Amino acid sequence: MVLQGVHAHYGRSHVLHGIDLALRRGSLLALLGRNGAGKSTTLLSIAGLLKPTGGRVLLDGQPVESQVPEAIARRGIRLVPQGRRVFPSLSVQENLSVAAQARESGRKSWNIERVFELFPQLKPRHRQRAGTLSGGEQQMLAIGRALMGNPEVLLLDEPSEGLAPLIVAEVAEGIARLKAEGLSILLVEQNFKLAMTLADDVVILNTGAVALRGTAAEVQAAPELATAHLSVI
Ligand SMILES: Nc1ncnc2c1ncn2[C@@H]1O[C@H](COP(=O)(O)OP(=O)(O)OP(=O)(O)O)[C@@H](O)[C@H]1O
Ligand SMILES: [Mg+2]
Repeated sequence: MVLQGVHAHYGRSHVLHGIDLALRRGSLLALLGRNGAGKSTTLLSIAGLLKPTGGRVLLDGQPVESQVPEAIARRGIRLVPQGRRVFPSLSVQENLSVAAQARESGRKSWNIERVFELFPQLKPRHRQRAGTLSGGEQQMLAIGRALMGNPEVLLLDEPSEGLAPLIVAEVAEGIARLKAEGLSILLVEQNFKLAMTLADDVVILNTGAVALRGTAAEVQAAPELATAHLSVI
């Protein structure tokens, strides 16, 4: 997936100023930046929930930026939004089966059992209402819901936000497995250390523009260049 010169506005407020990035197939790109840098706006623009006011979003070379969010999701781009939204009054299992209804019939690799293999602690809770799960379990369920759509590209918006370190490690383990299975992942994070353990490539935003980009190895070699643009945890 490639972004070419993506601009975005909220009303008259110009928030993204020509974002270029390339997510290589089967790799994980960490999109970093301080609060308000434009990370979530970038993901919303890719998912079609906020229409870009300029530039292109290409999936397998095909432009998708003018399509409605449902069509973009069916093409294989799935967003796990910030704040891990699940249906609180539905059970874990119902949340997953509802998500399966919105997918293209052709590709069929994900099912509820596979989500439970990835996040085993969801399985004993399959009949529990999602609203009563812990924050970590809700995050796992939110990721599971996106997977039920059989994505090619997964957009994860701050999956570690507000979670205890032990739980963050479990979520990170799941993300690492998804990458190993060949999914392309765009991971928004404020947790620099976590992002660096998972990333192949790094893009850092500052006030709606790319401030730094490189491979994870390049950023590891000179972390002070990256952290100058971050509020490091
Ligand atoms: N719905 C909105 N209406 C108007 N302005 C918005 C809206 N959502 C975000 N913004 C503004 O757009 C800019 C980018 O916000 P965005 O949510 O993309 O940042 P972020 O990098 O995801 O930050 P955070 O780390 O806090 O989630 C900020 O200045 C923010 O105040
Ligand atoms: Mg955000």
